[in-house]
Amino acid sequence: MLMITGNEAKPMVKEVPGEEAKKIIEKDEKYVATTTKASPAVVKEAKGIVFEDVDGNIFFDFTSGVGVTNVGHSHPKIIEAIKKQAEKFLHFAGTDFYYSLQAELAEKLCEITPGNFEKKVYFGNSGAEAVEAAIKMTRWSTGKKFFIAFIGAFHGRTMGALALTASKPVHKQKFFPWMPGVVHVPYPNPYRNPFGIDGYEEPDELVNAVINYIEYVFKHFVPSDEVAAIFAEPIQGEGGYVVPPKNFFKELLKLAEEHDILLVDDEIQAGFGRTGKFWAIEHFDAVPHVITTAKAMASGIPISACVYPAKNDFKVKGAHSTTFGGNPVACAASLATIEVLQNGLIENAEKQGKLMAKRLKEMEEKYEIVGDARGIGLMQATEIVKSKETKEIYPKARDEIVNKAFKKGLLLLSCGASAIRYIPPLCINEEQMNNAMDLLEEAIKETMKEL
Ligand SMILES: Cc1ncc(COP(=O)(O)O)c(C=O)c1O
Repeated sequence: MLMITGNEAKPMVKEVPGEEAKKIIEKDEKYVATTTKASPAVVKEAKGIVFEDVDGNIFFDFTSGVGVTNVGHSHPKIIEAIKKQAEKFLHFAGTDFYYSLQAELAEKLCEITPGNFEKKVYFGNSGAEAVEAAIKMTRWSTGKKFFIAFIGAFHGRTMGALALTASKPVHKQKFFPWMPGVVHVPYPNPYRNPFGIDGYEEPDELVNAVINYIEYVFKHFVPSDEVAAIFAEPIQGEGGYVVPPKNFFKELLKLAEEHDILLVDDEIQAGFGRTGKFWAIEHFDAVPHVITTAKAMASGIPISACVYPAKNDFKVKGAHSTTFGGNPVACAASLATIEVLQNGLIENAEKQGKLMAKRLKEMEEKYEIVGDARGIGLMQATEIVKSKETKEIYPKARDEIVNKAFKKGLLLLSCGASAIRYIPPLCINEEQMNNAMDLLEEAIKETMKEL
């Protein structure tokens, strides 16, 4: 029986991490590989936006398991769908045989992704696998070898996806050689970009600078007719929750189509309702050729997908496949997730996103170290800086804010060099949002006093 309801108005925290948490952390550190651990949060149960830790502390989760539990933790409709399918069969290799759930989910994804053309879906198990599928499909179907990706991008950590990733040196350090053939270009980051353009004031100028830069690359060292695809996140995620100017994707698509290049929209973090529309690219009036998705797709059961034009299909059996792709339990959870999102949660993301944006903008105006508040829907961040004037990054203050917020019961994650992301489950209510923002504000004020 869950003790928490998910409707709690406030977190309730004593001393964290508590004694039970410390024991688990110690064992984990001894036996589990070093990954990306960020806070000593040791969960026992979770519901909605709330979780209880092993010492009885009650927290608000503003991380959604890194963008996964968009419908909220332990949503009854998802659990019901999982149980129902689990009682029938857990696995049957949808790659080699058939069951209806896989075809149903593929049909649904083809319907709800932008673009009125025939599509097909490749199912994998993680975001990186969806990206690998996009890499292989675009190379396979076009015969071209090169890719364009953006500085600040995160597309995963497997050797192909890693080649596209360019958000932090630690991701690539000591791993060379990764897949050859990727050229990185600047992303139109309005707040800080190598062109010295204020992208909030001059969005068109910034977009032109990026498009011209890509043309420059084509002219000098990457023949555009050898480029298979351009990979882009609609909002850069791990790179710092960077929202490009509104017309960026229209211009990028135009450029791609002029050169017969496929545009791959990586929606792994930004998709599935997070921004108040099903796909983040819908905010930018552009229809990409390919979409990759994962994370929130099945509310926590691993599954990913690459949705692409049917004419670009592999066509040859065995060219690409994976044992667990399209697992039936994950497909059932994903279909239920789509239904739950479309029944009110996406609208709520837009509504609560407006409230969050208002509160974060107020903090930007009030506090010298809050340099930039940005985002769409419930995908928002603040960039922490030493001063608004210099925009010098201030990761020490950022980490301290995250740490203080955790001690108050608000679980946060950083992103980029000096930003904090705010990504609660989309079922959050107004009272919970305001109380979470109050806790964040307290953490900022206390940090400013101490540093
Ligand atoms: C935009 C984007 N693409 C790809 C990935 C990789 O996904 P995964 O960690 O499931 O491999 C991530 C993960 O954060 C992501 O945010």
